[in-house]
Amino acid sequence: MNLVFLGPPGAGKGTQAGLISRRYGIPQISTGEILRAAVAAQTPMGIRAKGFMDAGVLVPDDVVVGIVEERIVQPDCTPGFILDGFPRTVPQADALAKMLKGMTREIEHVISFEMDPSVLIDRIVGRRTCKVCGRGYHIVHDPPQVAGKCDGCGGELYQREDDCQETVQRRLDVYEVQTAPLKAYYAGEGLLRQVDALASIEDVQSSICQVVASHI
Ligand code: AP5
Ligand code: ZN
Repeated sequence: MNLVFLGPPGAGKGTQAGLISRRYGIPQISTGEILRAAVAAQTPMGIRAKGFMDAGVLVPDDVVVGIVEERIVQPDCTPGFILDGFPRTVPQADALAKMLKGMTREIEHVISFEMDPSVLIDRIVGRRTCKVCGRGYHIVHDPPQVAGKCDGCGGELYQREDDCQETVQRRLDVYEVQTAPLKAYYAGEGLLRQVDALASIEDVQSSICQVVASHI
């Protein structure tokens, strides 16, 4: 089962990708998380990406396409994968189609997270992320059992640097201009499945499971 999760910042892609990954035993490939790990480790790629991420703009296509090309051929991706936050531009979508064709694989569903943009800022500003395993929480909608600590691994929770108000607005604008056109792109291929991302975490998960089940 090869899935793409498409939606604006804060729509819940990472949250749902984690849940669906555990449920179906397929890996979540988050380009944002891979980039943040590279920034933390100060690798050449991380050093190159940091300025773009801090500014709330997209990292160049060649960098993220390279990340996905390397990750998608790993053995744990054989039963399927969830692309969380990739592709984000038409050239990235074209590159993905080309790389999958070379592997005689294809995307089965593009889950489009639909919601009113006014809620996104609240979701992003309230987000806390585990320093160790990357799991996301929300201080109101999905709090950890012990304040400041990850339920899964006990790691410390932190607020992402790009989750400040000004950067968030830039990320939303970038989404509208560069990423939203992918909805028409994938609708044209008959792959777009829209889910109501304003619903509760559990209800969004059920919608995604229904989509997946009804198209098998
Ligand atoms: P990335 O890490 O991908 O960030 P993003 O797309 O901006 O998405 P977010 O992580 O902000 O949101 P999400 O939809 O995953 O929401 P979440 O589940 O956390 O990218 C960061 C940067 O990296 C980019 O700006 C760019 O620079 C670079 N980058 C990454 N990929 C790239 C690419 N392909 N090309 C170029 N550059 C790239 O949920 C948000 C909050 O809401 C959480 O607190 C959560 O607990 C809560 N929540 C979730 N669901 C619900 C719900 N149903 N109800 C209530 N609360 C909810
Ligand atoms: Zn953790």
